[in-house]
Amino acid sequence: MDRRNKPSALAATKAAPPQARVDLVGDRVTAVLPTTGESVEVLLTGATVLSWKGLKNDTLAERLWLSDGAILDGTKPVRGGIPVVFPVFGQSPADVATAKLPQHGLARTSRWDFLGKSESEGSGSPGSSVTLDFGLSAASANPALSALWPFDFTLLYRVTLEPGSLRTSIVITNAGDKAFDFHVLLHTYLKVDDITSTTVSGLGETEYSDKVEGFKTKTQAAGDIAFTGETDRVYKPAKGAEQAITVSSAGAPVYGVTRDNLADVVVWNPWSEKVHSVGDFAPKEGYRNMLCIEPGSVSSWQTLEPNEAFEGAQLLTLL
Ligand code: BG6
Repeated sequence: MDRRNKPSALAATKAAPPQARVDLVGDRVTAVLPTTGESVEVLLTGATVLSWKGLKNDTLAERLWLSDGAILDGTKPVRGGIPVVFPVFGQSPADVATAKLPQHGLARTSRWDFLGKSESEGSGSPGSSVTLDFGLSAASANPALSALWPFDFTLLYRVTLEPGSLRTSIVITNAGDKAFDFHVLLHTYLKVDDITSTTVSGLGETEYSDKVEGFKTKTQAAGDIAFTGETDRVYKPAKGAEQAITVSSAGAPVYGVTRDNLADVVVWNPWSEKVHSVGDFAPKEGYRNMLCIEPGSVSSWQTLEPNEAFEGAQLLTLL
């Protein structure tokens, strides 16, 4: 019988909101938001985010730069996307515990475990966000590399996709019985229309170490950063992670980068000459379409005592 005023308990059950689609195929995990079609793809090697397709102004487009020559079989770090740098940034000094590790450490070439997905981390309604969790430990890391740095650690890396944003966070835990020092950095390759009309705000009047000039300490002029040549700088904002960063194209804001507990920011573009020494960078003209904005803690060592943990994160937002 069709009753006009059904008691609410008898009303048709509301359909469950659509869930994000998550697939693990081979060594890649992809997640797609049903609400917007936005997606993220993560390679188990390095838990490297390879792709973030975000929606802005009705345009669903790739937001990360990935080299056409990127090697994705785990034999090399991925050139592009978001590699995770741990426990050393750059080439290690010779007199510290990370001395034997390769540039940027062991995490980006180790195969991480996919720990699963959850849908409740984001701020929106169910189905409007998805989180993918990845784990790495001293026991599961590439043995040839972990043998070079004898500490017991666990890493939890969480990749959260929401409409218009991507958040990646890392928790580093000392699971052993001796303290260790580390750097950590999220090596984000943002895709830009044209590096010559790209500017970065939020780092004006900030001290930086200029790797292009032998790590010389300099202070950024007030205002935006523009790009006219090879750029490789470690910025140390006085306000630490509080300072928001905006990347603009021809004066229009494109990306917001906010940070939790990652006080430093590396800004890198190899430009037209140096790019030729980066073998897996293709096409070479691709330097025009990328800008690395890399939140991290790299200008000094963080120390973790046994059972202590460190957490840091970046939030990339489409503006
Ligand atoms: C940046 C460094 O973070 O990474 C640069 O500041 C380096 O000095 C760049 O060239 C790329 O490093 P790699 O090891 O991926 O070639």
